[in-house]
Amino acid sequence: ATGAFTYDPGFTSTASCQSALTYIDGDEGILLHRGYPIDQLAEQSSFMEVSYLLLNGELPSAKELESFTYTISRHTMLHEQLATFYRGFRRDAHPMAIMCGVVGALSAFYHDSTDINDPKQRMIASHRLIAKMPTIAAMAYKYSVGQPFLYPRNDLSYTANFLRMTFGVPAEEYEVDPVIESAMDKIFILHADHEQNASTSTVRLAGSSGANPFACIAAGIACLWGPAHGGANEAALNMLREIGTPDRIPEYIARAKNKDDPFRLMGFGHRVYKNFDPRAKVLGKAATEVLDKLGISDPVLDTARELERIALSDQYFIDKKLYPNVDFYSGVILSAIGFPTTMFTVLFALARTVGWVAQWNEMISDPEQKIGRPRQLYTGPAMRDYVPVAKR
Ligand code: SDX
Repeated sequence: ATGAFTYDPGFTSTASCQSALTYIDGDEGILLHRGYPIDQLAEQSSFMEVSYLLLNGELPSAKELESFTYTISRHTMLHEQLATFYRGFRRDAHPMAIMCGVVGALSAFYHDSTDINDPKQRMIASHRLIAKMPTIAAMAYKYSVGQPFLYPRNDLSYTANFLRMTFGVPAEEYEVDPVIESAMDKIFILHADHEQNASTSTVRLAGSSGANPFACIAAGIACLWGPAHGGANEAALNMLREIGTPDRIPEYIARAKNKDDPFRLMGFGHRVYKNFDPRAKVLGKAATEVLDKLGISDPVLDTARELERIALSDQYFIDKKLYPNVDFYSGVILSAIGFPTTMFTVLFALARTVGWVAQWNEMISDPEQKIGRPRQLYTGPAMRDYVPVAKR
């Protein structure tokens, strides 16, 4: 449509929008961000660089990357009043509930100073959200374990800053392990954007009404939490732990195939991929590398590998084209880094924020954009007259 080279994914009739950010070919297992294959970005780029690419359309020069990273680092602090907001939650509140609440509360601080019709202010709001998500996520974790919040530090990389705010304590210096920093950054890249998935569509629909971006991202976080979507990474590791040993896998495969059983293999299947999810391939490899480098042997990884092997040779999964997705292996790595399962979807939301704000910007900057208004197929009763209660 714009004269640029466009792939026809073959389902334009059901397309909810046009977008230049991410291309997925579910049959070929292809995922491109602004034309760059996800495996190349995961192996060679950084989350800050991919964030710049998604927001601006091109990979940055060294100078552009330095300036972008500097800008983001200057928005990482939260208003001190927001820190008190955490104290309203029970200590055992799920960190996703806290993240939903705190990101929504950002509207109260920035709503009236964000004119979404001004591209400059839209970009400032985007930078604020990308910058503050690591601080909000780390504070949710600290609150849940009863440790003091750590302020962000501008001398650390985006990902190292997050790891220090999460696992550091005031009593001593926190040394960021480069293996962990690299694995975390790769996980952020692999979760950054994914075309019109449920949570991104939620952000677009909320944004189409002119709602402020902070409220829109809070809506996206709520949608991502579901176990059929971003909540699957937490559910997948819990499932692998429940299975325990490989000899119990057939019992769970049988349950997943039983139409009368609502159980599904968490981390398997996808609305679009009917071939391997390329992100799962990168994460499957990274799981072995990271655990080896950290000297951790987690039996859950063996169970995951065996489950994948058995499922991929089972006619049910072959016929229904069910493969591991992004959520199948990510939890093994996150657990090895030290995160509890309740933080897994928070990390997904942290990374996906750059995709959400980039998609929101793309939509709002389209002069033809109108409020979203999905229609329905009506299946209720035909028109009929009211009957007063005395006659019913
Ligand atoms: C994410 O959209 C995105 O891009 C999302 C995401 C992103 O980056 O934003 O990629 C992230 O959400 C990945 C998906 C994470 N969810 C899970 O791992 C939860 C487990 N998987 C499923 O619940 C399921 O596969 C869905 C929700 C992901 C997709 O659901 P669909 O559309 O029903 O699955 P499908 O069309 O691929 O299903 C085909 C068939 C169905 O059977 P029939 O109705 O045809 O008889 O396969 C069955 C499903 O019942 N099936 C499964 C299964 N997934 C689908 N059976 C057993 N175990 C599974 N995991």
